[in-house]
Amino acid sequence: MKETRPETERGRSTAGVAMRKAAIGVLQGVDSGQTVDAALLPVSLTGADRATMQWLVLGTLREYLPVQVLAAKLLRKDWREEDTDLRFLLSLALFELRHGQRPAFAVVNDWVAMTEALKKPWARGLINAVLRRYLREREVLDGALVDRDLGHPAWLAARLRAAYPQDWPAIAAANNTAPPLWLRVNTQRVDPDHYRQLLAEQGLEAKGVAWSAAALCLPASVPVATLPGWDAGWVAVQDGAAQMAAHILEPQEGERILDACAAPGGKTAHLWALGATRLDALDRSAERLKRVRETLERQGGTVHLQAADAAETTTWWNGKFYDAILLDAPCTGTGVIRRHPDIRLRRQMDDVTVAVVQQVRLLEGLWPCLCPGGRLLYATCSVLPEENEEQIIAFLQRHPDAHRSAHPLTGQRLPGQDAMDGFYYALLEKAA
Ligand SMILES: C[S@@+](CC[C@H](N)C(=O)[O-])C[C@H]1O[C@@H](n2cnc3c(N)ncnc32)[C@H](O)[C@@H]1O
Repeated sequence: MKETRPETERGRSTAGVAMRKAAIGVLQGVDSGQTVDAALLPVSLTGADRATMQWLVLGTLREYLPVQVLAAKLLRKDWREEDTDLRFLLSLALFELRHGQRPAFAVVNDWVAMTEALKKPWARGLINAVLRRYLREREVLDGALVDRDLGHPAWLAARLRAAYPQDWPAIAAANNTAPPLWLRVNTQRVDPDHYRQLLAEQGLEAKGVAWSAAALCLPASVPVATLPGWDAGWVAVQDGAAQMAAHILEPQEGERILDACAAPGGKTAHLWALGATRLDALDRSAERLKRVRETLERQGGTVHLQAADAAETTTWWNGKFYDAILLDAPCTGTGVIRRHPDIRLRRQMDDVTVAVVQQVRLLEGLWPCLCPGGRLLYATCSVLPEENEEQIIAFLQRHPDAHRSAHPLTGQRLPGQDAMDGFYYALLEKAA
């Protein structure tokens, strides 16, 4: 599992201790059910310390399951409930030993010293012994780490293997690798070719795509604040696959458009940038809806926002038909595991059924809001057929007034394909 380590790193300084403590805290947050993004939010680290902490946390989550197998071999006992912080300490330390560039002795010393910071000095000898044994036997231990499920929970590996017998190894490899940095240039503020030039002047070589001049891909992540014009809203971070939505829906002058599941607003902002001026954005979560406003304001856009369950049209719809609807439906997120490595730990098999039921509710609720001749773009960042192709086939069978429009950017995209996230798009047209 390839990881790119941030250049700078603190050793056994106070800042280093705070950074490692924060990393343990974020993993505890994820363990208690938070998303990694939510667990990272309150962390006050900045600069190199933050970059190193994120590298440790995201990398550890990406290979969490195999590392637990490794830790179990080394420990031969389970941690007590109150010692989960030590489990995370050990996982982070093993990750750093496996993928970091600092000398092994420094890594071991720093993580062993964290037992004091966690007020568990009794664990000092144990952590020290386990890490040193790993270093002595790493060749054999790493070699024995044959992971049939390639770092995925067994249920998910089985589903992906069944759905994509040929592509499963490539999907798993993509899920286990840190993603590149995709940017969307705000064409209302800066010309994309000029922006590419500005990136090149900073030594950043961006790749483009044929279907959008605004989509640029940098091979590895950089602190966004260092990007040209970041503060002035010249670019937004948005995966290439996510950028396809607005291009498929193609907003036309004067059209009434609904973004039904809008938060945090990446696609809303893109629709606005492509000329959607009569745009309504809904989201069930009032809290997340605030981020849509912030995202839009950063780009200089405006939109009508409403917190509502989009499927319950009696609570929010004024009866005026929409010309186009984007339904970026809640889903299992199985196409964006490389970006949100906590998904593989948090997601359970039952979540698939919950997502499918929600998607049906939303499709059924929103279809009547579309004008005759209008179009609805159904999107998920999932790779599971039951949320995607099977969902749409069933919808078309239930709705004789719907037909699927062939657009070159629609269909199932797999994680890592063209360096993008896994996404699914179906463009449905209503009979005129
Ligand atoms: C995949 S995210 C949308 C991402 C967003 N379109 C973007 O590009 O930034 C799905 C969103 O659907 C919202 N959601 C879930 N169920 C909903 C419902 N019944 N009605 C409206 N929004 C819902 C969630 O709060 C979440 O923000």
